[in-house]
Amino acid sequence: MNRRDFLRTTAAAGVTIAGGFALAQSAPRPLPLLPLTDLTGGIDTRLPLTLARATHDFGTGAASPTLGINADYLGPLLRIKQGQTLPVDVRNTLDETTTLHWHGLHIPGDVDGGPHQEIAPGATWSPDVPITQRASMNWFHSHMHGATARQTYHGLAGVLLVEDDASLSADLPQTYGVDDFTLVLQDKMFNGAGEMDYFVSGEVFEDGFEGDTMVINGAIAPVAQTVPTGLIRLRLLNACNARFLTLSMATGPVRVIATEGGFLASMVETDSIVMSPGERYEILVDLRTDDTNSLNVGFGDGEGLLGLLGGLFGGGGGDQTLLTLTRGADTGFTGALPDQLANLPPANPADATKTRTFQLNMGGSAQLAALAADWGNICGGGVMAINGMPMKMDRIDEEVRKGETELWRISADDMQHPFHIHGCSFRIISQQGATPPAYAQGWKDMVHVEDGWSEVLLRFDYDAPATAPYMYHCHILEHEDCGMMGQFTVT
Ligand code: C2O
Ligand code: CU
Ligand code: CU
Repeated sequence: MNRRDFLRTTAAAGVTIAGGFALAQSAPRPLPLLPLTDLTGGIDTRLPLTLARATHDFGTGAASPTLGINADYLGPLLRIKQGQTLPVDVRNTLDETTTLHWHGLHIPGDVDGGPHQEIAPGATWSPDVPITQRASMNWFHSHMHGATARQTYHGLAGVLLVEDDASLSADLPQTYGVDDFTLVLQDKMFNGAGEMDYFVSGEVFEDGFEGDTMVINGAIAPVAQTVPTGLIRLRLLNACNARFLTLSMATGPVRVIATEGGFLASMVETDSIVMSPGERYEILVDLRTDDTNSLNVGFGDGEGLLGLLGGLFGGGGGDQTLLTLTRGADTGFTGALPDQLANLPPANPADATKTRTFQLNMGGSAQLAALAADWGNICGGGVMAINGMPMKMDRIDEEVRKGETELWRISADDMQHPFHIHGCSFRIISQQGATPPAYAQGWKDMVHVEDGWSEVLLRFDYDAPATAPYMYHCHILEHEDCGMMGQFTVT
């Protein structure tokens, strides 16, 4: 459970790539768009979401076995407005049980889609999902305990944008596929035949599954898109199982306008952003005068095989191009860069009436590992836990009172972990012992955890009974499946 193990994994993966399907820095492919289902104008029927086996060509020429939601890989981009209720029929045509969780939504536990809302093969789950929160970028993915990592990796994920009156009338680009793009960023492994690969091992459980090839909306990067002159809005989701991504622009700063739970108070300009698995950010790219710009991912020392490839294939200091935007003949949104974006109240830790403490554990005794296996956590002989307890489906770890402000403090024994809490958006008071970067000071549902305390201020406004509790967990999906997750009620 340490950095030596991490290096061992990287070395093993290097053997795979040498004989495998190495595609770094090939010619750009067109950027695929997630199919848009725009419900903001009204909803007159239940929305079918059909989970099915499929095959998908990521750009290698091979048909990779995948899972899809109304598509051969990933799901649609759902767009809905605050105040609406989403009536959805999630049909499971797979030969295995699954669930579909609405990551980021402030909704009651019984429609949250967590591990207790299992959808058996052939069954349909039909929640009515009330959308009460402000404009925000959310997503949905499998949350089947013990299978979340594999099912999500194979494609059971999609994006749900919530809009509100303010966001719809905001002076920002919002024409989907023209000046407003949603990017699902993932890292994948491909085998020698060009098929997407997934495997687990003791090392994969330790580090999480990390691929050597970046994929955007199901196409191997780099991808390219022609856009109109003006501002371009990119809504980014890190849907990697385990990889943190350091993103920057080829030219100029990253201009961040929103975190996962809403707009920032004002635009933040920064050299780069670090996105953990599960995080979302919205950024603006200014192509009013620049002819082109690219979104890059950087890999520093110790960041694994992609760092090595980035170095080998050039691309400036280990940077690899993900997406290149180039101006065409049209004129698009030519308004100014925004100044004020939203009214973001200051987060005051003194508002908390209760403090809870969570320690993320890796390792543990053989006895605990046996217990974890007994409790349905899939692990490679190790064990993941929170406060010494691996996830157990019929144990409630915390009981929270609805409407009360709490401070949750999280730290980790080893490694860096992306921590996620269901049922709310929170504000980060401290992250890994420090003030969070300005771009992470808005509404969040993910926080980075390593040494030092990460502290978040939160409040839950909906019920989650013991039959449908909320989860808190590490969003390295193999860690989650392996037991780094806990359950809480809100009453
Ligand atoms: Cu994105 Cu509990 O999950
Ligand atoms: Cu969630
Ligand atoms: Cu973790």
